Amino acid sequence: MTHRPLPLVSRKAARLAGAVRVPGDKSISHRALMLGGVAVGETTVHGLLEGEDVLATGAAMRAMGCKVTRGDDGVWRIWGVGVGGLSEPSSVLDMGNSGTSTRLLAGLLATHPLTAFMTGDASLVKRPMARVTVPLEQMGARFVCRSGGRLPMAVIGADASLPVTYVLPVASAQVKSAILLAGLNTPGTTTVIEREATRDHSEHMLRHFGAEVAVEDSEDGQAISITGQPELTGREIRVPGDVSSAAFPIVAALIRPGSDVRLAGVGLNPRRTGLIDTLIEMGGDISFENRRVEAGEPVADLRIRGGALKGIDVPPERAPSMIDEYPILAVAAACAEGTTRMLGVAELRVKESDRLAMTADGLAACGARVEAGEDTLTVHGTGRPPAGGATVATALDHRIAMSFLVLGTAADAPVAIDDSRPIETSFPGFAELMNGLGAEIAEPAP
Ligand code: S3P
Repeated sequence: MTHRPLPLVSRKAARLAGAVRVPGDKSISHRALMLGGVAVGETTVHGLLEGEDVLATGAAMRAMGCKVTRGDDGVWRIWGVGVGGLSEPSSVLDMGNSGTSTRLLAGLLATHPLTAFMTGDASLVKRPMARVTVPLEQMGARFVCRSGGRLPMAVIGADASLPVTYVLPVASAQVKSAILLAGLNTPGTTTVIEREATRDHSEHMLRHFGAEVAVEDSEDGQAISITGQPELTGREIRVPGDVSSAAFPIVAALIRPGSDVRLAGVGLNPRRTGLIDTLIEMGGDISFENRRVEAGEPVADLRIRGGALKGIDVPPERAPSMIDEYPILAVAAACAEGTTRMLGVAELRVKESDRLAMTADGLAACGARVEAGEDTLTVHGTGRPPAGGATVATALDHRIAMSFLVLGTAADAPVAIDDSRPIETSFPGFAELMNGLGAEIAEPAP
């Protein structure tokens, strides 16, 4: 696959105003396709994120025997094959840029008696897979990876898998979910223990499809157990707006005084809202309207008004609830008055890019004072946006790309990014949505 970069440039906006809806939640969309694929009967999904990452999961489920269709009404329908019913894919599964697809599917496949091959783009093939292969091998699967536990990777699923109790060495919902999904087709009870609470969409959705999932406190942390070999039945799912995508218009509105933006139907699962808590602590004017629960997930409409922000310390225990939001938080911090210290953020180094380094380098190029430590990121804000006037490298990382386009809406000089294509993985229509609110994001003049 050839990747032709598409640069974009973002110029200072007067103010941002208007009401929009961000695309569906990426984590929930992946899980809807995977669980729909191993349920019996029809699953309908409203508001599925039609980003490349989720489409990679859909294509993989199709390649393993599930019927996955999109109606003209935008509703997705999946006819599942039942727990343990996936068939061996006849060619390599291309997971594109998506770590979530790769790690969760590795779990699902680990307890099917089949061999599958997975690969991905230049970013994904650098990311560590041992964090999932180690526990899944304990359950009976085998993996052949490139050196350093990297893709391409062969998954040789277990004929007769064994349940495990596994204490997560890193706070990772992807690893937790991989083990729970492997536990689906494993007799007995599979337990994952997490010291720090990570996003719990898998637990919610497994229950929604009819699996038995118990959560209790243990000495080592919260123990999540799944009873193996349930019969899952097709369900209806309404996917809320992705709070990780909402993060970009939220920060864009906050850093342009006079802005007034409304975002409808944003998912507010408390394990995902660390950025919103942090921005409010920084003095951000964010209010919630029409709070409701949809498909077991809390949802609200947000109203964001621009104004002054101040720097704060962001504690390490908050990291799992905002792990994807540090690059855009760093942009907000660069516009705030005072120093923001983000602590315990080492996981940023193994995301779609080394986000600690990419964020620090990009902000420095735009004139901000930043320090990147091993697991800390410190931004010294002056109360005014940094100067801008740079072209920032994005290294196939959608969130780096969107963060710096947001910075460009507030900086005096334009901010360009070398490649906007990765934005398609999670936020199709990002530039159009932002421009609809008053941003000026466009291709650079030739
Ligand atoms: C995700 C979990 C997070 C997050 C990723 C999506 C998920 O990764 O960064 O974008 O859907 O489970 P980790 O669990 O590895 O931190």
